Amino acid sequence: MSRERVSIVEVGARDGLQNESTTLSVKGRVELIRRLMDCGLTRIEAGAFVSPKWVPQMADSDQVLQALPSTEAVSFPVLTPNLKGLEAAIAAGAKEVAVFGAASETFSQKNINCSIAESLDRFAVVCEQAKAAHVRVRGYVSCLVGCPYEGVIQPEQVVPVVRRLFELGCYEVSLGDTIGVGTPASIERVLTALLKEFPASWLAMHCHDTYGMAIANLRKGLDLGLRTIDSSIGGAGGCPYAQGASGNVATEDVAYFLRGEGLDCGVDLERLVETGQWLFSQLNKPVPSRVNRALSGK
Ligand code: HMG
Ligand code: MG
Repeated sequence: MSRERVSIVEVGARDGLQNESTTLSVKGRVELIRRLMDCGLTRIEAGAFVSPKWVPQMADSDQVLQALPSTEAVSFPVLTPNLKGLEAAIAAGAKEVAVFGAASETFSQKNINCSIAESLDRFAVVCEQAKAAHVRVRGYVSCLVGCPYEGVIQPEQVVPVVRRLFELGCYEVSLGDTIGVGTPASIERVLTALLKEFPASWLAMHCHDTYGMAIANLRKGLDLGLRTIDSSIGGAGGCPYAQGASGNVATEDVAYFLRGEGLDCGVDLERLVETGQWLFSQLNKPVPSRVNRALSGK
């Protein structure tokens, strides 16, 4: 009997690297993505078309995209906050982009320098132009349950933003627990509100692991029917506009967890461990992933 499938969106080459003090060169980022492909990952975020003054680690994402193999088997989404980003991404060959909004006004201002309403207006233009260019758009909503500036975020703040992203044509919305403060109870509250309106198959979980709650939160999401998980190799990263937030849940931890649950995510755990070790040797620090440390003995 074949095992039920869970889709992993690997965000290490973007979310992972955007907050690291060591900036990986274009060559290094391309090598990371190639290694991630060799692990069996088929959805690999490849960069961000944002201001290099704001996030220097993502500068030259066009060169990263252009250096990647052209293959139907793997998608390489990139972040595009506005039309300028989208145009540059399309010129570099992007077939999938992501717009990223927030459920918190203050976070929206700090992260993308505009209000939630203004951001949604910008995303409307991005989505329209992307559609015309046959480029798929994924949506993100940050601060799913908590904001580094405003504290607790209620489901009623999240639902309208998610609704608007779907109205604009996003094929999937990734729900970001940006600072990792969620617990299964708060995640259940917001997912229950969302699932009244949207099918579970349209939603992805994007858990940062600051408080070590990510796997428990993912279990809750799986119980409620979600089957798409964002994760970052080694547990790298964080958001530059969410101080103190640690990296995403590690891809190694997710792969180990899913295997234990009898779910298939199509990745080679041993290769993930090697790739996490390789990345953190480039970053000159120990791998945060507990599964990686246990399996590599390092
Ligand atoms: P702005 O300053 O408001 O934009 O920035 P502007 O239109 O006034 O332009 C100012 C300058 O930025 C100009 O350059 C523009 O050309 C340039 P200058 O004349 O000063 O030399 N510019 C751009 N350059 C490159 N690419 C662009 C672009 N747009 C304008 N697309 C902007 C607005 C959004 C660009 C800025 O605020 C920014 O880059 N922010 C960074 C956002 C970011 O990358 N955050 C981290 C990712 S989000 C995240 O991590 C959360 C997530 O993982 C989910 C979760 O965990 O919750 C997704
Ligand atoms: Mg994130």
